[in-house]
Amino acid sequence: MSMLADLRKFSRRDRVFSHLIRADQLEVDTSKGHILYIEDLSVSFDGFKAIDNLNLYIGDGELRCIIGPNGAGKTTLMDIITGKTRPDSGTVFFGQYTDLLEFSEAEIAQIGIGRKFQKPTVFEQHSVFENLELAMAANKRVWHSLSAQLTAEQKDRIDEILVQASLIDFKHQPAKLLSHGQKQWLEIAMLVMQEPRLLLVDEPVAGMTHQEMDKTAELLHQLAGRHSVVVVEHDMDFVRSIASEVTVLHQGSVLAEGTMEELQSNPKVVEVYLGE
Ligand SMILES: Nc1ncnc2c1ncn2[C@@H]1O[C@H](COP(=O)(O)OP(=O)(O)OP(=O)(O)O)[C@@H](O)[C@H]1O
Ligand SMILES: [Mg+2]
Repeated sequence: MSMLADLRKFSRRDRVFSHLIRADQLEVDTSKGHILYIEDLSVSFDGFKAIDNLNLYIGDGELRCIIGPNGAGKTTLMDIITGKTRPDSGTVFFGQYTDLLEFSEAEIAQIGIGRKFQKPTVFEQHSVFENLELAMAANKRVWHSLSAQLTAEQKDRIDEILVQASLIDFKHQPAKLLSHGQKQWLEIAMLVMQEPRLLLVDEPVAGMTHQEMDKTAELLHQLAGRHSVVVVEHDMDFVRSIASEVTVLHQGSVLAEGTMEELQSNPKVVEVYLGE
């Protein structure tokens, strides 16, 4: 398939091109230090409260882990932040003034919230470099013409992320030859090409080897600062290796927050999750 056809497909996936609203030019005010303000959030599915009066604040440039038992509402929370699910009540602000509930899923992606789903979706037939080129082209902020050539600066940016994602040696290989872990990194790298302010990553290390997990922790660390990163993960060794602030979700609300060390000595957390 041609690059152009794939680019169209990729863009449709994010629905970036079909929207005329310049959500991409919106300024997100993080002057108070936070990128995300979630307050009194609730959503029910057939009477079941999947999110129940949840309050959560994410710092600008922070790397935050969210843990909690199956069904705690972790993925639902990401669905609400990204506009896939509408809450019944509560507020979700991106920066101080941007009310995310006023925007569609496509607009939220454009405003600068990227989401990595569990299953990697890379373009198998294209090289690693071309995958990143496609991702960059889908970013309207840096690419205004489909026929434009990459600038030297853009090529450098791609190389930079390839190094971070431990993929530089595979730059010209078709993505289909990558391991599962490498595909996950490639997809994270593709999201980063779109320069999200906030990156949401759901269970990135499922199915990875220990070595791949260590590299994933390193990659996410490097991305934090330049981006804010929220990671949902069940693998506690991985969460420990990220060693950042951890939020425990339980029955749709925040049960506790702290470092893994603090949480491991919190009886409530041990009872519902860590003691399993
Ligand atoms: N669209 C939906 N319709 C109906 N119920 C839903 C929907 N989305 C989620 N739920 C329910 O809401 C609850 C929370 O699910 P969610 O997927 O957010 O949990 P989770 O914390 O991500 O769990 P896991 O760790 O297993 O991924 C579950 O009971 C789930 O069945
Ligand atoms: Mg989930």
